[in-house]
Amino acid sequence: MSRTATAIAPSNIALIKYWGLRNESLLVPYNASISMTLSRSRTRTTVEFDPDANGIEVWIGSDDGPQEAPDGFSRRVEEHVHKIAERFDVSGGFSVWTENTFPASAGLASSASGFAALAVATCGALGHPVTGSEAPPLVLLGGSGSAARSLAGGYVQWPSRNLRDKIEVVAPRDHWVLADVIAVVESAPKEVSSLEGHRRAPSSPHFGRRLELLPARSEVVRRAIQQRDFERLSKAVEEEALELHLIAMSCRPRIMYWRPGTLEVLARVRELNEDGVPCCFTMDAGPNVHVLCEPDDEGTIAEALSDLPVVETVIRDQTGHGARFQDDS
Ligand code: PMV
Repeated sequence: MSRTATAIAPSNIALIKYWGLRNESLLVPYNASISMTLSRSRTRTTVEFDPDANGIEVWIGSDDGPQEAPDGFSRRVEEHVHKIAERFDVSGGFSVWTENTFPASAGLASSASGFAALAVATCGALGHPVTGSEAPPLVLLGGSGSAARSLAGGYVQWPSRNLRDKIEVVAPRDHWVLADVIAVVESAPKEVSSLEGHRRAPSSPHFGRRLELLPARSEVVRRAIQQRDFERLSKAVEEEALELHLIAMSCRPRIMYWRPGTLEVLARVRELNEDGVPCCFTMDAGPNVHVLCEPDDEGTIAEALSDLPVVETVIRDQTGHGARFQDDS
């Protein structure tokens, strides 16, 4: 008899970025990363497992109803699902339906929410609804490090200070709810995947220096979160975002994620600061800009960014809870 489970997992925005893999097959990053879990940017995934069947079907939700997933995407899903099934020593057939509330592959961490939701739903469908510290190693089998951080809410570090396949909650969601106003300047899939970016990162002449600077910056971010110090957080987060892109632009072959719209949004953020509106920017591996602020300033910032002709859409998000099963599954 088949069994079905549905999971919802949020995306996250990295405050300290994961960029570069020391060991790709074991997914060992060069540095620990810290992110804020989001609330409205999420993936919802349903997995059906039938022990008497074979193969896998993958469907993606769209405005025109479910569409069969493109080959590359299906293959990554299939590999992840099979690795999880192997861990539990089971085999059979799978059907996977997945949908995002935001544009996929646009530097909005769809791999984070996608692989977190896929792992949680697959485990549920296999009859092993994992929680707590058992979950990150199963999520990491999908190959996305940032996905492990989406398991928990609030502010999350991966790897934890001691273990490669564990996460650590720096502060829970209710400790400090910040707004994240996301200015989408391009919703098309990005040209160079994060995986390829991780591979190229160490070829940047600035990569070694980055690794020297990171422990102190990460500590500033952890403290700023714990003390709810927005000014200190802003300075470190912007420095970190620019450094990720410095590494991307200077690795070989170089990667240019920015678009003209990216720079226009950064300039608008500076103007808002000059007008006395506290906010800071960050970008993951893509052209879109996340503008972080206290919830009271969210409306002003969303309006200012929506007014820019280069901005396609503004997504108003905030600190959220981690991945969970959907109640009716
Ligand atoms: O988890 P991946 O392989 O999609 O890599 C994420 C890379 C960044 O988004 C650029 C940084 C991060 O820490 O999320």
